[in-house]
Amino acid sequence: MNTSYQAWFKQKLAKLQNLDCYRVDVTPEALATHLVVDQSKIIKLNFNENLFVDRAKQTTLMKQLADEIDLRLYPEDEEAKLREKLSSYLCVPKDSIAVGNAGDELIDRIIRLFIEPNDVAVSFTPSFAIPRLCVKRQGGEYITVPLRDDFQLDTDALLNTFSDKTCLLYLCSPNNPTSNQMKPQDIEKLTKAFPGIVILDEAYGEFANYSFVSRIQEFPNMIILRTFSKAFGLAMLRLGYVVANPELAGVLRDRAPLPYPVSGFTIRMGIKMLDNIDIEQTAVAALVAERENLIKQLNQIKGVEAFTSHADFVLINTKTPADEIYAKLLKRGIMLKKWGRLLQYENCFRVTVGLPEMNVKLIEALKQIQGD
Ligand SMILES: Cc1ncc(COP(=O)(O)O)c(C=O)c1O
Repeated sequence: MNTSYQAWFKQKLAKLQNLDCYRVDVTPEALATHLVVDQSKIIKLNFNENLFVDRAKQTTLMKQLADEIDLRLYPEDEEAKLREKLSSYLCVPKDSIAVGNAGDELIDRIIRLFIEPNDVAVSFTPSFAIPRLCVKRQGGEYITVPLRDDFQLDTDALLNTFSDKTCLLYLCSPNNPTSNQMKPQDIEKLTKAFPGIVILDEAYGEFANYSFVSRIQEFPNMIILRTFSKAFGLAMLRLGYVVANPELAGVLRDRAPLPYPVSGFTIRMGIKMLDNIDIEQTAVAALVAERENLIKQLNQIKGVEAFTSHADFVLINTKTPADEIYAKLLKRGIMLKKWGRLLQYENCFRVTVGLPEMNVKLIEALKQIQGD
């Protein structure tokens, strides 16, 4: 290596090593090894996965696909076919849809295409971390405004951040981690006033009371993000899509340089899930019913407050310090996402709505820990 190359390389490497990235605290496998138990004993309630989707039915669809698909070939019409199916599922034109490797990759794709160094993005806090990480990676600035105490948008404070430098507004509704939906009139007001692109993240849209998808034609600057990871239970496959006006959706489809971003197997599994929509509908209905039951039970435990949810998870706040609860639950093989302080609440956790038998164990453990 010549010396100038060496200096550049070292500098570049140091910069990349300092990039803020998403990290996982502990995996179920590592926890099972640590506790010397079988991994099936671990109660994983930290990633908002949807275990209500019938696994046997999904497996049947996968086996059918294994017979139908020729893995030696590149994907060709798969994506267009998925957009057609999504178009009837969502009642929007197929030109308004772009498909990607789930929500995270689509957020990254939008930000790579639209954010340049020193551009400013705006959002609120607390919310989903990925957009901030992607904007920072592009060399942009990420400004956040705290949510109000009732977890709703502080529209005046957000409007005050808008300027000719603000290119991206990220709104998440239902919001991760607060689990509530934002008021539609606030989303509408902010989107209409924003001078750039607005990402409306509806990853949890199927568990919620309303969606902006049917109104997309009213908002030429809005990109609605949806995923197969939650309602459809395909988190492992990584499939998602966005809905936007056809010009914007076309840029997101055609102006990302890679020709086959999503695997053909994944896309065709998405098509199969849409062809068998009862699997998703049954799962969502069962999860929502269990969510309400879980919230009620959590609220009966002394020192635990569970908030209203429009997603597949519930936000709770405990009287006992979050670190203590987290450690004691881990010892019992129960994994929650620890947040600690959120707005005026000191000890918050995000709890996936698990299957009833998992929730019984969580409730039992929390009761023991809280001495209820
Ligand atoms: C608000 C929100 N958006 C997007 C995602 C990305 O999910 P995926 O990449 O699995 O579609 C998540 C995942 O938890 C999320 O909580």
